[in-house]
Amino acid sequence: MTPKLILTGFMATGKSSVGPLVARRLGWEFVDLDSVIAARAGKPIAQIFADHGEAHFRRLEREVVAHLTGDRRRCPQCHGPHPGVISTGGGVLLDESNCAALRRAGVIVCLTARPEVVAARVKRSKTTRPKLAEGGKSTLTRIKELMVERADAYARADVQIDTSDLTVDEVADRVISAFAAHAARRCAPSADGVRSA
Ligand code: S3P
Repeated sequence: MTPKLILTGFMATGKSSVGPLVARRLGWEFVDLDSVIAARAGKPIAQIFADHGEAHFRRLEREVVAHLTGDRRRCPQCHGPHPGVISTGGGVLLDESNCAALRRAGVIVCLTARPEVVAARVKRSKTTRPKLAEGGKSTLTRIKELMVERADAYARADVQIDTSDLTVDEVADRVISAFAAHAARRCAPSADGVRSA
């Protein structure tokens, strides 16, 4: 069986650069959850937050997680679940139902980075991130605050990879190795012949 590879983690940890690269290397389909949400809503994520608030965005996010993790297609070669890489927004694991659905669908790989590295990447990025603008604090203060708040949620991932000092290529290598190790572990028959996960 080849489950989905789910890439998550704090904002600006490299998910959008690494996701498509990993998918290309594996020859799998790539889906970016936030792009699906924005397409469904007909507006960018920051505009969804501005027009309808975070609760509405989280509802859309849950709907799209349920849709993507309910993929019933089969792999044409092995006839197992259809393989794919799903990249999510940084808040997806905060919701327990998202977390459970993603866990059932595949291996959750969480990218991390030091707060200072995230702050520098955010500064260079063109993406508007409403969660970092909340409270009128400095970006670095807000990043540290959110990282503390979210530590337990990110700890639910199968594996965490610190991207602070790695190139995109190096992160992609580690993501693929971690995924392979975890997917193999899930499929390994236990001593009594019952699958372990
Ligand atoms: C969010 C992260 C964003 C986007 C939304 C909320 C978050 O995605 O989903 O602004 O709560 O961390 P990125 O992690 O791709 O920036």
